[in-house]
Amino acid sequence: MEKVTVGLGERSYDIVIGGGILSGIGESMARFGFSPTVTVISNPTVFGLYGNIIMRSLADAGFRCTSTLVPDGEEYKDYFWSYHILSDLLKNRLDRNCCIVALGGGVIGDMTGFAASLYMRGIHFVQVPTTLLAQVDSSVGGKTGVNHPAGKNMIGTFYQPRLVWTDISTLRTLAKKELLCGMAEIIKYGVIWDAGLFNILEEKREMIMDLEPGLISYLVSRSCEIKAEVVSKDERESGLRAILNFGHTIGHAVETESGYSKYMHGEAVAMGMCAAARLSEALGIMEKANADRIESVVSAYGLPHELPKNVNIDRLLSFISMDKKAVAGEMKFILPRSIGSVIIQKGVDMPTLKRTLEL
Ligand SMILES: NC(=O)c1ccc[n+]([C@@H]2O[C@H](COP(=O)([O-])OP(=O)(O)OC[C@H]3O[C@@H](n4cnc5c(N)ncnc54)[C@H](O)[C@@H]3O)[C@@H](O)[C@H]2O)c1
Repeated sequence: MEKVTVGLGERSYDIVIGGGILSGIGESMARFGFSPTVTVISNPTVFGLYGNIIMRSLADAGFRCTSTLVPDGEEYKDYFWSYHILSDLLKNRLDRNCCIVALGGGVIGDMTGFAASLYMRGIHFVQVPTTLLAQVDSSVGGKTGVNHPAGKNMIGTFYQPRLVWTDISTLRTLAKKELLCGMAEIIKYGVIWDAGLFNILEEKREMIMDLEPGLISYLVSRSCEIKAEVVSKDERESGLRAILNFGHTIGHAVETESGYSKYMHGEAVAMGMCAAARLSEALGIMEKANADRIESVVSAYGLPHELPKNVNIDRLLSFISMDKKAVAGEMKFILPRSIGSVIIQKGVDMPTLKRTLEL
């Protein structure tokens, strides 16, 4: 088992990573001294696969367990279903020292964290991420939230879990396209922070795609270490944390432009990372050879490296300038300087951006 600590003073927590560790969660949670009632939040897909093992482990450790299921899908990540979770917690009589468990991917994790931050002004929660994206990204760092018709993740809180319990064997039941979305985020960590990690992605693609346990465990723990380091320096995204958005500004614009239905988030991020790399090359910040390497790795993992042929560039540009991370209307781009290092660039001129996106 690997352990990564997110250092946030008295709100610090551990991310425990291993294969086949789901059955150990009860014993691990028992050490915290939570009140005895626990509610597991999940969806029917994931609960059907892993619900029994989690419920049994919690019961064996002396917890009285209940479960609340939310239908499977991003479209249910909303205020209505969060309210449903909160109502169940009241019905189950959870007190302020109780803990709730998020069993699932990023959708369940974001909603559970959101509900935990609101219930009785905040109760404990534990993340049990079961998608690669959730294991390397969404379960770490304390961003919680739900979608609103006006935009994705527009309603939310910063609220840290007490523990992240990551069982990499759950990835064996995950659809390949979901796995690839997680790979896009791991590629991101390589580009923004760790050239060594990037080299491994280049050299060991086949073993990674076969889910070789030692490699997957390394990729998940190294990604968590990087995110933990960034978040512990800038929890609320007032500076450094913005680098985690590499590929996301253009990626979000692609998702919005295509009405969220055509591309998965990871695919849009992959296109965004390649476009940002080309922008960096056009601005003379990074050498062409490195932009080529980023594009090659993205394609090697079966992710798209070009913007969709039929995309409307003017609409894309208008979404980029409206990005929720833009401050006072000023666009910010996270641009690679080399593999393993990025800068936060303001004041990118529109004609260069447009020319790059049109390539
Ligand atoms: N909080 C953050 O910092 C952060 C960061 C990135 C993304 N997110 C959010 O995460 C969400 C996306 O998360 P996701 O990609 O994990 O999607 P998801 O939670 O919708 O999971 C994808 C699909 O995989 C299924 N699934 C999950 N685990 C499985 C398993 N082990 N075996 C078989 N099927 C399994 C789910 O039921 C679902 O159908 C988005 O809402 C996004 O906004 C949050």
